[in-house]
Amino acid sequence: MDEKDMGTDLAKVLISKDEIDAKLAELAERIDADYRGEDVLIVGVLKGAVMVMADLARTLHTPVTMDWMAVSSYGMGTKSSGVVRILKDLDTDISGKHVLIVEDIIDSGLTLSWLLSNLRSRGPASLEICALLRKPDAAKVDIDVKYVGFDIPNEFVVGYGLDFAEKYRNLPFVGTLAPHVYGG
Ligand code: PRP
Repeated sequence: MDEKDMGTDLAKVLISKDEIDAKLAELAERIDADYRGEDVLIVGVLKGAVMVMADLARTLHTPVTMDWMAVSSYGMGTKSSGVVRILKDLDTDISGKHVLIVEDIIDSGLTLSWLLSNLRSRGPASLEICALLRKPDAAKVDIDVKYVGFDIPNEFVVGYGLDFAEKYRNLPFVGTLAPHVYGG
């Protein structure tokens, strides 16, 4: 799916595929340097992190194992509810492991804040976060994020894993939607 397939639904491309690729290469270089010689478990937070996980994992030189969690924080709309529950837990016991959580976006930060304390209680050797996108103006809690791709304005974004009502996840770029899509 690309810009042309979006017709009038796309307002603008915020971050292009090339910019995402370049940023993932930068992040992967830092992660490779920081975890040299270590076994790393990368944990993707479904569903949004699927694209970042797939592309970051393939850019890394570090051999990683992969696991997935699904938590819910949003309904079908665009507002964070702050309510987090586990829809799918890890298959792996993370105690004593170097764990890197991979996220597509940090909005209010409520999901990750909850996830951090949940995973920390399982006794990993280390626990860090890699997020492609972060909205500093939307933060409701402070989170220490070691690897951040882009700080973006507090606008609703779709693409590269991010959805609106489950659509647009398969765009190769991150963009904003035209108001009519929201029923405006
Ligand atoms: C998105 C995103 C993060 C979370 C961030 O997931 O992937 O997990 O929201 O929001 P927060 O910082 O305000 O908590 P979402 O719940 O929309 O699920 P999805 O990944 O399946 O689309």
